[in-house]
Amino acid sequence: MALAFTSSTAIHGSVSSSSHQQPKVSQLGNTQLLDQPKKSLNFCQRRCAVKPLYAEPKRNESIVPSAATFVSPEVAEKVIEAEDFEKLAKDLENASPLEIMDNALAKFGDDIAIAFSGAEDVALIEYAHLTGRPFRVFSLDTGRLNPETYQLFDAVEKHYGIRIEYMFPDAVEVQALVRTKGLFSFYEDGHQECCRVRKVRPLRRALKGLRAWITGQRKDQSPGTRSEVPVVQVDPSFEGLDGGSGSLVEWNPVANVEGKDIWNFLRAMNVPVNSLHLKGYVSIGCEPCTRPVLPGQHEREGRWWWEDAKAKECGLHKGNIKDESVNGNGNNATQATDTVADIFDTKDIVTLSRPGVENLLKLEDQREPWLVVLYAPWCQFCQVLEGSYVELAEKLGGSGVKVGKFRADGEQKTFAQQELQVGSFPTILFFPKHASQPIKYPSEKRDVDSLLAFVNALR
Ligand code: ADX
Ligand code: SF4
Repeated sequence: MALAFTSSTAIHGSVSSSSHQQPKVSQLGNTQLLDQPKKSLNFCQRRCAVKPLYAEPKRNESIVPSAATFVSPEVAEKVIEAEDFEKLAKDLENASPLEIMDNALAKFGDDIAIAFSGAEDVALIEYAHLTGRPFRVFSLDTGRLNPETYQLFDAVEKHYGIRIEYMFPDAVEVQALVRTKGLFSFYEDGHQECCRVRKVRPLRRALKGLRAWITGQRKDQSPGTRSEVPVVQVDPSFEGLDGGSGSLVEWNPVANVEGKDIWNFLRAMNVPVNSLHLKGYVSIGCEPCTRPVLPGQHEREGRWWWEDAKAKECGLHKGNIKDESVNGNGNNATQATDTVADIFDTKDIVTLSRPGVENLLKLEDQREPWLVVLYAPWCQFCQVLEGSYVELAEKLGGSGVKVGKFRADGEQKTFAQQELQVGSFPTILFFPKHASQPIKYPSEKRDVDSLLAFVNALR
């Protein structure tokens, strides 16, 4: 049968007293500084130098500024709206992480803190240390971290003579979740709910005590969601101390640094690292939701691997997910506009209609295998895929494998979700020649070689 298609085809006192006495970044041309010892206080002295962790929060229940004694009053009084952060981001686009970090700490003093996950973002702490300025560090202890991560927290505290300001989830909320759904509900119905309780809400509390935060997000960490992370921006999702949108600034000093260069830096500076990295882990989150990756696999494939690629933002960086593409559960957002130009528009890609796809699902013996992308033209992840999918179609021309596309938003959405395994866009399916069951492309790697390897393995 012919296929139907159209032929167009509480933290306190993480300030290092030793670093306080170091030179400012302007003096960093001197490499001697990079070699100087990091610990000048013994453990007892350091303990005495910080406020107790259990001290009563003053301004609200979140992170309480603790290093005020080290910061000049003018810094704390700065109003963030006065600054044009878009312009600053442009100005700093080519600046080094050290320069960006220095800028961030200089502008926000005690009202800024580094969000430390216990992975390679220890680089942020090292950069902060190298500026010679006081700095604060907080971590979200979800209660589900690997032992190795807790060991790293301890090693980092000792190495830098700091106290990390741990944020914990609300006990009542965790109890409610675990008592109703068990300890591993995220494997059943997605990670968003657990992440909301264990990570996002504690983060929100932490940020409500700050005017700015520093993250270790990098563009190369997730081509789908982080490719546009600026070095600094008004936080698109969270509120700071003054409340309201625009009251918090997010700094990403390593946004433009590649993973390998982070590692060169960590090695050069000889800082403590998470021992899980020696076991094949790259991106590290909670223990049940993180696993090592194989050589050549993208680092995000080790996170929430049972879910669709684009849902892999736990909510800490939800500003990276554009409203029109995917919602927090990895389902397609309802917005689909006809005003957006179509994509994957080339003679090598066949535009399949609904009956065409239904035929592919029905036929057990078809003349040739098919590769089909299920997409929505307004989806930014589909737009990112366009270049490599078009190139792939060209490469497969004359190979016997047909390449198609099926627009699966709008009125086709329910069909696509129920019959075509669409959790989010784009979904790529391979229909083998002698089977009716399509095989879903499981990887987040969308380069031509990876897609071709998938096709070649199945054709
Ligand atoms: S996540 O959203 O997928 O979990 P990822 O692990 O890539 O984030 O880390 C990106 C940045 O988010 C880290 O460099 C850090 O700044 C922040 N972050 C992630 N997890 C934590 C955590 N548990 N505590 C504090 N900050 C975190
Ligand atoms: Fe829960 Fe996993 Fe999210 Fe950690 S990463 S908060 S364990 S769902």
